[in-house]
Amino acid sequence: MSVIVNDSAYELPDDPRVSLLDYLRERLGLPGTKKGCDQGACGACTVLADGERILSCLALAVAYEGREITTIEGLGTPAEPHPLQRAFIASDGFQCGYCTPGQICSAVGMAAEARRGVPSRVTTDLETETVTLSRDELRERMSGDLCRCGAHNGIIDAIAETYAMEAAE
Ligand code: FES
Ligand code: FES
Repeated sequence: MSVIVNDSAYELPDDPRVSLLDYLRERLGLPGTKKGCDQGACGACTVLADGERILSCLALAVAYEGREITTIEGLGTPAEPHPLQRAFIASDGFQCGYCTPGQICSAVGMAAEARRGVPSRVTTDLETETVTLSRDELRERMSGDLCRCGAHNGIIDAIAETYAMEAAE
């Protein structure tokens, strides 16, 4: 049984009780994914599974056999940061940085949902093929990702700027 993490294959644990979060952090040595609440309430542990954002603290590693997991380590590197990582720095989107990997993974998954026309609670046009990421949409769609430092304004600025630039290209 194996799983693909950041483009490399790894054996899954024998113990079916191991969460995906603990597997990534403690077995694969990928500490970028953070443990905040460990009960699905904060978003710090968000990773991408086949491009969809998931809470890795609520996921069992063995359930992801054959799937592709992307963590913050797979999105950008110090030498080649992801555009969102650059924007978080430019927009003061963090203080301690603990929530930041989850915020960025969540934003990547969130933007893909909007591109597919997945509505949120504040979407008014339910027929649209692609949802435009207004600030209300961003606040609603990122509301599961808490920042204990209160950097939410900078976080929304960074995400808005990144995807506005992408839309303009
Ligand atoms: S650590 Fe998973 S949601 Fe908080
Ligand atoms: S930057 Fe500290 S928790 Fe978000």
